[in-house]
Amino acid sequence: MELEINGKSYPVESDADTPLLWVLRDELGLTGTKYGCGIAQCGACSVLLDGRVIRSCVTPVAGVAGRKITTIEGVEDDPAGRRVVAAWVAHQVPQCGYCQSGQVMAATSLLKQSPQPGDDEIAAVMTNLCRCGTYNAIHATVRDLVNGGPSPEAEKARAEAARASNRDGGAHA
Ligand code: FES
Ligand code: FES
Repeated sequence: MELEINGKSYPVESDADTPLLWVLRDELGLTGTKYGCGIAQCGACSVLLDGRVIRSCVTPVAGVAGRKITTIEGVEDDPAGRRVVAAWVAHQVPQCGYCQSGQVMAATSLLKQSPQPGDDEIAAVMTNLCRCGTYNAIHATVRDLVNGGPSPEAEKARAEAARASNRDGGAHA
């Protein structure tokens, strides 16, 4: 079968009932999408299917053939995804980073379906787990996006972090 991922066509040989997550990571080498729980609970494996977030660990690959799949590797080709990634960087949301590709996909899906979500809607959609507890930063960043951000304060923090990183010579990269 053929999959359309990030605007490119990929021939796939996995069995029809293989979860999309394994195909992305193991067959196609698109490892930005993460494995967390494997049972649709954590959201680490989130990708977009025709612009809406799904959990790829429980999605048989045969069901997504011929549809548009977007992974973290291609999310910045989408205007909403580009804004989300820029805001995530400006707010320095990630800690260990493991859950963050899924968080970005969920936020992108939210803003594509509902550009002005209220707090309840944000909470209802942003259900991905984060063991580092970045929930407050995520909520603030999504609110900033809804309000047209990233805000000047967030941009300033990003610029200062970049300067500090340059001073360190990337020692902590
Ligand atoms: S790995 Fe898919 S929801 Fe956790
Ligand atoms: S940033 Fe570490 S699990 Fe979310």
